[in-house]
Amino acid sequence: MAFNSFGEIFSFSTFGESHGSGVGCVVDGVPAGLRIDREFIQSELDRRKPGKSKYETQRKEDDEVEILSGVFEGVTTGTPIALLIRNKNQKSKDYSNTKDLFRPGHADFTYWHKYGIRDYRGGGRSSARETVARVAAGAIAKLILKELEIEVLSGVYEIAGVKAKNLDFDFAKRSIIYSLDKRVEEKQKEMIEKARNSHDSVGGVALVKIKKLPIGIGEPIYKKLDNLLASAMMSINGVKAVEIGDGIEASRLKGSQNNDEISKEVFLSNHSGGILGGISNGEDVDIKVYFKPTPSIFQPQKTIDKDGNEVICELKGRHDPCIAIRGSVVAEAMAAIVAVDLLLLNMSRRVENIKKIYERL
Ligand SMILES: Cc1cc2nc3c(=O)[nH]c(=O)nc-3n(C[C@H](O)[C@H](O)[C@H](O)COP(=O)(O)O)c2cc1C
Repeated sequence: MAFNSFGEIFSFSTFGESHGSGVGCVVDGVPAGLRIDREFIQSELDRRKPGKSKYETQRKEDDEVEILSGVFEGVTTGTPIALLIRNKNQKSKDYSNTKDLFRPGHADFTYWHKYGIRDYRGGGRSSARETVARVAAGAIAKLILKELEIEVLSGVYEIAGVKAKNLDFDFAKRSIIYSLDKRVEEKQKEMIEKARNSHDSVGGVALVKIKKLPIGIGEPIYKKLDNLLASAMMSINGVKAVEIGDGIEASRLKGSQNNDEISKEVFLSNHSGGILGGISNGEDVDIKVYFKPTPSIFQPQKTIDKDGNEVICELKGRHDPCIAIRGSVVAEAMAAIVAVDLLLLNMSRRVENIKKIYERL
């Protein structure tokens, strides 16, 4: 199975499965001399970790991060940083009754047909357990962004059609479902509970914002900021659509409504979501990430087994009733990774930058 890596200069490769001994990543391209705040990395993993509330899967993992390499006396050495998160709370028996059949909506069917073998325990490599490694890599990216005073924020915008009207990223940090709007949080929770009580699941939308990204980040033509963000977000399990700025809504507007007029200091609006021609324009970069409802639900569903017999799929186990909640943290991490990768790439785009680096050698 190839293509487990992401990024060009700041790059990472992940390994591990849902019910294997652990999940981790090797992050390459981190400049030497970056102070690594282990507590910060842990706090990012804690935001994604399962089992924090009834609105998430009840799989309880500590998700404690071990830094295996690339850091000496708390500072990066410029060598690959290996991060390991051990799995501790697997219940593989829960999957024994579905090991020969394909869960509707999950990757079982395609993995089986592609590889002729699949780790049925918790979805193996197709499990979102892999995303813990992305959040670890994203935390390192965020430490680089902090040095540059660039911030990446996220929250849950919409659950089961209930949308935030007022975006409050500070409230999202405190909300148990990372809701962006105090006024709709209860309704959003209610939608999740209702679905869970009827053995079902709901979809949702995360909103990610990159603040203070300087003008000029993004590489035309095939490494545009928006194209890389879309690719990063679509690589997350369960993501079915991505919008930049006003996204789909922009296609319904007139040019006179959608254009962001320009004054001396600022753009007078931000329909473009901070990106023009694939390059950041200095405004907030706004990304909406659309998650489908969790495929593993506890209602009987028609499916087939490996021999092609029609059977009924009845699941046991523990699953998120709404993946957008923990998914929002993963989306935030991926945005940070894209921003850092393109920032590092951008340093090589002007002779002045090269001269500055050369003078220090
Ligand atoms: C943070 C997160 C948690 C998830 N939790 C579950 C889960 O508990 N059960 C499940 O069936 N799918 C879960 N998913 C979604 C599946 O991993 C995903 O639907 C599956 O891999 C198939 O991929 P696709 O939906 O992109 O086609 C989760 C996804 C994310 C991002």
